[in-house]
Amino acid sequence: MARRKKVYEGKAKILYEGPEPGTFVQYFKDDATAFNAQKKDIIDGKGVLNNRLSEFFMTGLAQIGVPTHFLKRLNMREQLIRQVEIIPLEVIVRNYAAGTMSERLGLEEGTQLPRPIVEFCLKDDNLGDPLVSEEHIIAFGWAAQQDLDDMIALALRVNDFLSGCMMAVGIRLVDFKIEIGRVWEGDFQRLIVADEISPDSCRLWDIETGEKLDKDVFRRDLGDLADAYTEVARRLGVLPSNVTHATKPTLIN
Ligand code: CDP
Repeated sequence: MARRKKVYEGKAKILYEGPEPGTFVQYFKDDATAFNAQKKDIIDGKGVLNNRLSEFFMTGLAQIGVPTHFLKRLNMREQLIRQVEIIPLEVIVRNYAAGTMSERLGLEEGTQLPRPIVEFCLKDDNLGDPLVSEEHIIAFGWAAQQDLDDMIALALRVNDFLSGCMMAVGIRLVDFKIEIGRVWEGDFQRLIVADEISPDSCRLWDIETGEKLDKDVFRRDLGDLADAYTEVARRLGVLPSNVTHATKPTLIN
């Protein structure tokens, strides 16, 4: 097979040209980064788990009528996706205070918010993805007012869906980030959920024990990240049957 053309390589994923125009192949790496890539490691099996989990969430969203870029999973680490024009904003939805919101507003982590709060950060690693207001977004032309309204509506639907999925398996969805892309259908544009939905971009706490089952395990050195993601996948019933996160050979007595 001819070597595929790499279109883009990010911190956790690689995009290749897809088999048909308007498609990409999204490859999930095992790389974990935090604090704007100042902390890095390879977590065996993370890419396999995130490929499965993102497939699970995106498929579920499509089933309730939320459009996403996901077309189909190709293999353990790759999925076929629609090519989109990524809006240069990270859309964060928060149900409980944590992370930067706790720091900014002096709220104890885990404080329930009066309602889900949607925030926007500019996607710019050099600037550390700064929080921006709707005024900034409109004034600088990163998105139009109609896009903003659509993005908020989309993000809140994703929040309701993900919160429900997680609640059903004893996990609290504290917050998460999504990215949204534009697709053109004739002269009309539509906004769809893009990138990935996985424990890399969510905060997930066990409802009973408060145990963290997301990337904070890596950010804050709380234990084995692959074990945490495996637990999320296991509870949701999406663990690939023939894979555990251990890829090294183990001796059998
Ligand atoms: O994660 P951090 O404390 O740096 O920032 P946050 O604003 O508290 O993050 C809110 C949520 O968005 C968390 O679930 C993060 O994992 C996620 N996020 C992300 O996936 N990628 C970013 N660049 C920033 C936040």
